[in-house]
Amino acid sequence: MAEETPQAPENKPSEQPAADRSAEAKPAEGEAGAPKPEVKSEDQLKAEARSPKKQVAVDAKGSIWMSRRNFFSRAGWAAFFAFVASFLIGSLRFMFPRVLFEPSPIFKAGYPDDYPVGFVSTIWVKEQRVWIVRDDDGLYAILAICTHLGCTPRWLDAENKFKCPCHGSGFTSAGINFEGPAPRPLERVQVTLAEDGQLLINKSIKFLQEKGDWGKPGSILKV
Ligand code: FES
Repeated sequence: MAEETPQAPENKPSEQPAADRSAEAKPAEGEAGAPKPEVKSEDQLKAEARSPKKQVAVDAKGSIWMSRRNFFSRAGWAAFFAFVASFLIGSLRFMFPRVLFEPSPIFKAGYPDDYPVGFVSTIWVKEQRVWIVRDDDGLYAILAICTHLGCTPRWLDAENKFKCPCHGSGFTSAGINFEGPAPRPLERVQVTLAEDGQLLINKSIKFLQEKGDWGKPGSILKV
């Protein structure tokens, strides 16, 4: 019997990888027989632009643009509402202005008989910054404010004068300046009689000696 010699395995074309076969089958670009690159007509390009894939890209760009627009829109509305809010707050503050509630400049100072002739009363200095003085001419109220720089002078009974502790100005019991830097007499304020017979002092009405006010009604009470 003849022995069977082993044969080399056949290289069957069907067992080659498909990728290799396609590479072998297709000639390289530029070689003779290679397919030319596809040149698309204008209509084809337009059709591609309308295709769903392109549309998705356009939509994606559009959504980015919309988000920016939303951002600026919201910033604009925020600025608008801030402006309206500040305007409303300003209007409300205008409707409720700040009011300074100062104490009334008018007060009752008791009865004329409480002040004997030749007497300088200091009882209202701390509360009202006013002295009540009574002499032979009548009864008057002096403002306890130095006419130099506004300190409060003191009544010195022993020396029968007002003396300012700040720079040494001196005033007679009638309020006339006679020493120190004070340039003019002390100011008097209105004194009248209230309906109940008490002294009514109004500090908002002043009488200045240098203007000739001390003889005017209200500057002195003849009692
Ligand atoms: S403030 Fe009275 S002397 Fe200056």
